[in-house]
Amino acid sequence: MKVLIVGSGGREHVIAYKASLSPKVDKIYCAPGNAGIGQVAECVDIGAMEFERLAAFAKKEEIDFTIIGMDDPLVGGIVDVFEAEGLRVFGPRKNAAILEGSKGFSKDLMKKYNIPTAAYENFDTPQQAKEYLETKAKFPIVLKADGLALGKGVLICNTKEEALAGVDTIMVDKQFGTAGNRIVIEEFMTGREVSVLSFVDGNTIKIMASAQDHKRAKDGDKGLNTGGMGTFSPSPFYTKEVDEFCKKHIYQATVDAMKAEGRPFKGVIFFGLMLTEEGPKVLEYNARFGDPEAQVVLVRMKNDMIDVMEACVDETLDKIDLEFEDNAAVCVVLASNGYPEKYEKGILMTGFENFDGKDGYYAFHAGTKQTQEGIVTNGGRVIGITAKGADLKEARANAYEATHWIDFANKYMRNDIGKAIDEA
Ligand code: AMP
Ligand code: GLY
Repeated sequence: MKVLIVGSGGREHVIAYKASLSPKVDKIYCAPGNAGIGQVAECVDIGAMEFERLAAFAKKEEIDFTIIGMDDPLVGGIVDVFEAEGLRVFGPRKNAAILEGSKGFSKDLMKKYNIPTAAYENFDTPQQAKEYLETKAKFPIVLKADGLALGKGVLICNTKEEALAGVDTIMVDKQFGTAGNRIVIEEFMTGREVSVLSFVDGNTIKIMASAQDHKRAKDGDKGLNTGGMGTFSPSPFYTKEVDEFCKKHIYQATVDAMKAEGRPFKGVIFFGLMLTEEGPKVLEYNARFGDPEAQVVLVRMKNDMIDVMEACVDETLDKIDLEFEDNAAVCVVLASNGYPEKYEKGILMTGFENFDGKDGYYAFHAGTKQTQEGIVTNGGRVIGITAKGADLKEARANAYEATHWIDFANKYMRNDIGKAIDEA
């Protein structure tokens, strides 16, 4: 098989790595890829949003199977373009990727099908949103830009004044662009967060091992929201009871709801859950693997990933048993100092050879680039240092040990990834 992966982050690196382990796969391409992905795949210089060029490439190279890693192309309808060309592709069509593409859509879906989530209202104008805040709201409260905003379109507002200003930030100043044409205002919840990834074939859903992300930039969950500074899997807080509740009220219910709406979902659904005192509730849906959740979940998956993805496309997922290793994994993101705001790029990186021959240790590249001088940084999140261990504590110690193996001048990381393990 010839496989094409669309994307350029750490998530796409681990997807490429898993694809390379499949005995079915002869050749892997990745568009646009990065320096690390270039070690397991041939990088192709086509952007993830250039659907026609990507489909033309896939036809010309006789690609057998394409995997879309990123949210933007999925929400933009890349799968529909590939299918129209008769190409086999893993990911939801545009009419299903809306599950991530519009928070208003996903909230209305959950309300209609009684899937537990925070109480909310949608607003199309700043006037209506402000009137609601003036008259009906309780604080703190959460404002969400409706559309895709790189995980940054969520404002938690402690007072009415903050919330009124937040409406202007999203809907008037358009800090998140057109994502802010519509706004969701929702109840503030408290509890632990868990990320649950799943494979879906339109009818059947199979849940992967749980994980937890660390979204804030600084230790102690301080600082700005980022794409994710580190993850661990499994989450010790994702208990049997939580799993049973979610199986009964959330997972299959979501797949059935999408089908009932005429939007059958094929691909990965990522459930962002909050474990509240009233039980688990859905914080958000994503229509793809999490990044850096994929790094800790996929390295623990025993299945041939290509088999599972093909079963999603062929609607035979009911015949697959997902299996995970009875161990743990931790990913610590090495970022450029200053991320997610201002940071320098193009800085030389050293130490990659330290990973050679080290089983259970991985350097999944996120923002890197191959130059004549060597590999240089090329983004805010640079590399996800990932390690396995017999349990979470061992995996965390291994991952932090390996963070010292790679160096670059403006290297920054959180030092408390997986600290919550100690409270479990
Ligand atoms: P989202 O992109 O919807 O996952 O939101 C980003 C982050 O904001 C989540 O991971 C939570 O930490 C926080 N958040 C979102 N919605 C709520 C809510 N209703 N209550 C409390 N925190 C929230
Ligand atoms: N790490 C969170 C996400 O991928 O959305």
